[in-house]
Amino acid sequence: MRLNAPLQGLNTLAIEASAKFLIEIKKPSDVVDALELAKCNEWPVIFLGGGSNIVFTEDLDGMAMHCLLKGISAEQQGDDVLVTAQAGESWHGLVQYCLQQGYYGLENLSLIPGTVGAAPIQNIGAYGVELEQLVESVYGWDLNQQAWRTLSAEECQFSYRNSIFKQQLMYRFFITSVTLRLSLNDIPNISYGALQQHFKAAGIQSPTAQQVSEAVIAIRQSKLPDPTKLANVGSFFKNPIISQQQQQQLLSQFPDMVCYPQTDGRVKVAAGWLLEQAGWKGKKMGAVGMHDQQSLVLINYQQGDGKDVLDLAEAIEEDIAQRFSIELEIEPKIF
Ligand code: EPU
Repeated sequence: MRLNAPLQGLNTLAIEASAKFLIEIKKPSDVVDALELAKCNEWPVIFLGGGSNIVFTEDLDGMAMHCLLKGISAEQQGDDVLVTAQAGESWHGLVQYCLQQGYYGLENLSLIPGTVGAAPIQNIGAYGVELEQLVESVYGWDLNQQAWRTLSAEECQFSYRNSIFKQQLMYRFFITSVTLRLSLNDIPNISYGALQQHFKAAGIQSPTAQQVSEAVIAIRQSKLPDPTKLANVGSFFKNPIISQQQQQQLLSQFPDMVCYPQTDGRVKVAAGWLLEQAGWKGKKMGAVGMHDQQSLVLINYQQGDGKDVLDLAEAIEEDIAQRFSIELEIEPKIF
């Protein structure tokens, strides 16, 4: 265990903060031991994976548990394969491993930063696939029940960038492994517009999963900044979901607004489009600013702190509410 440990290298927004105690979780029993120690001392606890979806606004006067659990196993079931990955594995590392083994389904989720254990928390999604479509179960330590527990995909209560781990079980369930149901059949999903355009331009009609992975990597690299070069946590806001009635009203004023119909009749709006229209693309405010290729990505350019980040987010939220009567919601966890 380290005392007064710096967290700047453990969050991809590179915010300077520290934890009074930092403990590395290298085997499942470390989870129980660390939590017992925190309970005896009444320390508040947070869980850290790759730090790619958290904004620190203060030092932690308690214990940060850094998950370093490693290992991947697979079990074939007919045409399916159940892949279990330990929570500290890199997400993109898992995607590549599965592709190499001929386990298909994760290709659209290539190059997402962060760890396997963090993936179900925000139900990662990209290029037409959301993690919930592939999750079989999530295993970990339930702090309320003081027991190891397997949660089925249904029990995880997944929805767009949301799950039970961001709600009732926030910091109450330490995920140690995730089991995914993948396929041995190479039938990729290329429903997402940007992927279709990519393959049309390349003259490829039926791409393989490997080609989809390469396309997703190329598209991501063309507009999403590499967090090791420009500190960021990916999309800073969720794409807001509005009623059809509000969509109609807005379309009469903004006919180009980018929208995606949802299965429940409501409509998801591209927040990046709203931000670009409002002039936030590439705009800086002190040490932080919005990316000049993808306006939804907030960048920490010059060692800004949590307050700089939240001030910019607030200015954007107010502006978007005023212009479009739409309330934006911050996507990463604010600590
Ligand atoms: N757009 C603009 N200007 C911008 C950005 C976007 O006009 O600056 C419009 C464009 O019309 C574009 C559309 O918005 O076609 C959608 O943009 P993009 O494909 O980049 O996706 P997004 O909706 O901005 C979401 C996810 C990303 C994910 C991509 C691809 C959220 C909050 N973000 O972004 O996830 O990679 O789709 O599927 O849902 C993340 O969660 O950190 C993340 C990067």
